[in-house]
Order: sequence, then C-alpha cells, then structure tokens
Amino acid sequence: MTPFAYRAGELHAEDVPLSRIAEEFGTPCYVYSRAALTASYREFQEALAAHPAGRDGLVCFAVKANSNLGVLSLFARLGAGFDIVSGGELRRVLAAGADAGKVVFSGVGKTEGEMAQALNAGIFCFNVESAPELERLNGVALRLGKRAPVSLRVNPNVDAHTHPYISTGLRQNKFGVAYEDALALYRQAAALPGLNVTGIDCHIGSQLLDPSPFAEALDKVLALVDQLAASGITLHHIDLGGGLGIRYGEAGEGEAPRVLDYLTPLLQKLEGRGLRVILEPGRRLVGNAGLLLTRVEYVKTGEEKNFAIVDGAMNDLMRPALYEAYHDIQAVKPRGEAPEVYDVVGPICESGDFLGRERELSVGGGDLLAILSAGAYGSSMSSNYNSRPRAAEVMVEGERVHLVRHREKVEDLYASEIPLPRE
Ligand code: LLP
Repeated sequence: MTPFAYRAGELHAEDVPLSRIAEEFGTPCYVYSRAALTASYREFQEALAAHPAGRDGLVCFAVKANSNLGVLSLFARLGAGFDIVSGGELRRVLAAGADAGKVVFSGVGKTEGEMAQALNAGIFCFNVESAPELERLNGVALRLGKRAPVSLRVNPNVDAHTHPYISTGLRQNKFGVAYEDALALYRQAAALPGLNVTGIDCHIGSQLLDPSPFAEALDKVLALVDQLAASGITLHHIDLGGGLGIRYGEAGEGEAPRVLDYLTPLLQKLEGRGLRVILEPGRRLVGNAGLLLTRVEYVKTGEEKNFAIVDGAMNDLMRPALYEAYHDIQAVKPRGEAPEVYDVVGPICESGDFLGRERELSVGGGDLLAILSAGAYGSSMSSNYNSRPRAAEVMVEGERVHLVRHREKVEDLYASEIPLPRE
C-alpha cells in the first residue's frame, strides 16, 4: 500500500495533507501511517498462515527499529510479540500493553538486573549470545527460584551482503555463539538447573534485499537442530531473526522481496519438524510507514552547490550521516518550476549533517520536504546533539491525526543535569 501520495498537488499521509500536520504540530515531525503499519504486520501474519509450518508462528517486532509507544501499542493490539535488547525496551513494551509471554530478549550484554526484570515479567525466551551469559542467567534464575527459557543465538557464518555496520552473521561479528561451539554450549545449558532450553535463534543482518542468505543460514541451523536431537536435546521453537529489507528508492537498488516470497521457502524447510517459528522483523514493519516532515529554512545557492537548509538534522535522522544511507526526499507541494539540484542539510555544525545529497527539487525557503522511509531507525536513533529537542511524532489514521510524542522542550534536555554549587 502507498500511505503517502499526492492529491491535488500536495503530499498526503493517508487522508491528511502534510501541511496541516506541520501547522498543527510543527516541524521537524515524524509522521506514521496506521494503515501502513497494520498492512505490513498483516503481510507477515498472512505469509505465516499460508503455510502449515507457520500457523503457530509469532511475529516479534524488533523494538529498536521504532520504540514509540504509539507504534508499540498498535502492534500489541494486533497480537504481535516483541524482540527487545534492554530492560528499557522491556519497560516500554509492557507500558504499551504487550503480553510478556510474547517477548524475546536479544543482545550481547544483558545485565543481571535486566535478566531479573525479564524473568519476573515472564518473557517467552532469552536469546543467549555467549557462554558467560549462560552461566550468569542460570545464577540469576536460581536466585529467583525460576527457570529461564533459553535459545542460543547461533552465528551461522553467512554473508548477508549488506552494509558492514548492519551485517551480523559473519564470524568476525560480536554477535551470537560460533557455529562450531554451539553443540557443546547447548549441552552445557541443558545441564544447568536454572535454564530450560527451548529454542534456537539466528539473525544474520539487516536490510537484505536478496533472501538467499536466509535460506543458507536456516540450512545450517537445521543441521544443528538435528545434531541436538540426536544428542537428546529437543527444541520447541526456531527464531529466524529479522533483516528483510525495504525499498528506499535509490537508483539501481532493486525491488524488496514480498514477505511471502521470503518466508515460504523457509517454511518449506521447516515443514513437519514441529518447531514454532519466531520472526524478529524491525525495518520491514515500520520503515516505509513513516516519514520525517521538515521545513526549508534557507535556500543557499553557491557556485559549486546549492543547499536546502532544513529544520530537521542528523540528530533527528542519523542514518544518512552514519551509513551514508539513502532516503528519498520529496517536496510536499512541488512549486512547478524547473527543479534544481540541492544538498538537503540540517543546521548542525558538522559536514556529515546531511539528509540527502544532490537531489532534484523544486523548492524555496519556507517549503515543506518529506524525508521518506524514515519509520525505521529514525526516531529511535535520534539524539539531542546541539541541544536540539527531539521531534514530535504523529500517527495518521484516515483523516485523524494522533499525537504519539510531544515535541521535547529545551528544559527537558537539561532537567537531569546539575550545575556546580556556588563557590
Ligand atoms: N533481531 C536482532 C537480533 C537484531 O539485531 C535486529 C537488528 C533485528 C532483529 C531487526 O532487524 P531488521 O528487521 O530491522 O533488519 N540502525 C541500522 C540497523 C541496525 C539493525 C540492528 N539489528 C539502520 O538504520 O539501518
């Protein structure tokens, strides 16, 4: 579905003109489409339901992609589970109405406090990433008189062919336990009285447009499942991680696979194994359901370059600065004059503060721009750099606009700071 489309010369979010949102809530502002979020969740649900091996599957939204309570509460209502990586994310999903029994806890650095918090909440599974983490979790569980449900995150050593910062399944990454060590670690886990070995997990990277590495990784993980069964360790679920990519609109980028086409070959491999499938999609559920609305403060024309200086910046959307990621940029009301080539930049004092380079736009000072595909790893990675309050966030539903995050106030930024006492 296309949640953002032009009507009568103006870009809309569902049925709402973006200029109305800018007037009411100011800029920069993240704008999400409830219909698009719902549709992307349903695409996973339907692809699971279409195959017998997926019928009791669970979609655990990777909270790191967008941790806004408005977004989380929508997914919770749709029946989603959540993939969390911190105690903070656990608190958020519970505040959003999530069922703790549908939460998986990933991450290489879980603290004792976080483990206790998750055990007390009664989460579905811990995705354990190292031998010392197994020992620690066992200790915390025994102290609390509980048994921790455990999967090992196995690193299948598969190349996801994606950006090196977001590729996680290779041997040199810090994630997961080495494939060769997994069997011994499973035996160790099965012998620890505070643990209950329930599943296996892998996540090989993010923004994959070619789904073949997923199948390669699954083959390796299933070989391990068979070896485990032969040594008397029976698993009940398999977590295939996240990573399915979206289209950002860059030239030559290629199409994003349909969820059905990504999932069906994987489900076929799982047929008849009696393993419940868990998925941890992040980007694919939210990326194209959100945009960052920003206003042009100045147009600066130079001999070498033209700049559109906007009120959104790298603190609001870090992906271009951090990964040189491409986000499509559209004028909300194109002026109809011949477009010029601009670098779209923010006001932050860094050359890396750009949202897009060399974009053809027909704009002038005061115009609104939409930075597209900003629903994933946008607001959740935002910061207060340069003492910039974080943007407001809204969710559009037909003609209605729900505020899902107030624009931060400058006072909020230093409310927890303390000047030195008087001399
Ligand atoms: N599960 C685990 C264990 C993960 O580490 C991740 C993402 C996901 C699931 C969700 O992956 P997704 O479906 O969103 O690809 N900040 C980067 C992306 C970092 C991804 C980190 N891990 C970006 O803006 O592109």
